[in-house]
Amino acid sequence: MALSLTLGIVKPDAVATGKTGKIVAHLQDAGFALRAARLVRLTPAEAGAFYAVHRERPFYADLVSFMTSGPCLPMALERSDAVGALRQVIGATDPAEAAPGTVRKLYAESKGRNAIHASDSDENARREVAFFFTESELAGLWG
Ligand code: RTP
Ligand code: MG
Repeated sequence: MALSLTLGIVKPDAVATGKTGKIVAHLQDAGFALRAARLVRLTPAEAGAFYAVHRERPFYADLVSFMTSGPCLPMALERSDAVGALRQVIGATDPAEAAPGTVRKLYAESKGRNAIHASDSDENARREVAFFFTESELAGLWG
């Protein structure tokens, strides 16, 4: 299968507790190549726009507050079937329901503070990678 890109974010809980390196290593061991990454502290406007699909949900305010609570690490990750593979590797949203060996089972604290984000479709992966990285930072990676 052709290589494709997806967006992962090491979330503020995992950055704050020093798990960034372990999570990046876990993703590389699962076959992902790190093509772009930057440590950023999101503003409320940025976090709100990134998760705009959830703006009517009861957890939206907590989600924006959490995602702006400290630095996070957006990453453009390349692999075959990148979107589907990364969703498998991170596990279920709630670590209590995540499969053994997944990033969320290993590193997440709770359903809200769950260590990592992953795009959920190729269309959203394109939008989310472009949200954080310019075309020149991704030179040649989108077909
Ligand atoms: P993500 O978008 O961050 O990769 O997570 P996901 O697809 O597994 O889950 P999604 O339904 O898109 O929810 C986005 C994030 O909102 C927080 N959340 N909290 N307390 C709650 O019931 C609740 N539900 C969702 C989590 O941080 C979740 O990852
Ligand atoms: Mg999601």
